[in-house]
Amino acid sequence: MKKTSKLLTAGLLVLSMLAFAGCGNKQEAPAGNEAGQQAEQQAKVYVVGTNPTFAPFESQDDNGNIVGFDIDLMEAIAADQGIEIKVESLEFDALIMALGNGSIDIIASGMTITPERLEQVDFTDSYYTAGLNIAVAEENTTINGIDDLKGKVLAAQIGTTGALMCQQLVDDGIAKEAKLLADINICMLDLQNGACDAVINDIPVTNDYIKANPGVVKVVGENFNAEEYGFAVSKEAPELLAKLNAGLANVIANGTYDNLYAKYFTEAAAE
Ligand code: ARG
Repeated sequence: MKKTSKLLTAGLLVLSMLAFAGCGNKQEAPAGNEAGQQAEQQAKVYVVGTNPTFAPFESQDDNGNIVGFDIDLMEAIAADQGIEIKVESLEFDALIMALGNGSIDIIASGMTITPERLEQVDFTDSYYTAGLNIAVAEENTTINGIDDLKGKVLAAQIGTTGALMCQQLVDDGIAKEAKLLADINICMLDLQNGACDAVINDIPVTNDYIKANPGVVKVVGENFNAEEYGFAVSKEAPELLAKLNAGLANVIANGTYDNLYAKYFTEAAAE
């Protein structure tokens, strides 16, 4: 690079830093040799990992496309922040490791913000408040809540907060067995086949399952464990985290979030 252009670059850099300091967290203007970096940034496609077995947050449509609230919300955030994303399907219990080894950049998978996970990854602000509930087969009359799980076989998706709860109930000497299965649809089938007695899972997902498959399973007892969902990124990616948080705040402020919420969580949503 020639000396003059170096000087120019330095000058522009100082100017852009001043501008940056002056006007809060608005996007930085491209300056000098940052143009190259900018192009690189534009070319970067952030890989979003999800486990699409969790409607209405993420599932696969008849053509194999990954769809759902998390996907639409991530896309809205990405559009707002001018970043490009690509969604990939993974096992739920492989997501955090995938973030750790860099094979994905973002987790968007109805993932609850927990103290244990916060030791390994960073989460955005909460974008959804959920919790757990208990489902049993429609014809079951003996389990009416958490107090009726003594000696029972419980099922949950492996690696989830529901799985932790099942395991806890076994460890406490209450439940007989915790079956930790690959996804919640398998758990629900086990319930219908009598291979387990109760499924512990996230409230909105179990409710969605019941709407989509009426008359086979039902919710009993109280909801428990209020949980907040966040998008996760590597602890090494604070800029990406800041972008996701800024984008989330913007799509909440401009009504996009509410539109998506209405699309997925109203009566009309579960066709
Ligand atoms: N919210 C629960 C958790 O974080 C379950 C999430 C499962 N998500 C999924 N896409 N299968 O453990």
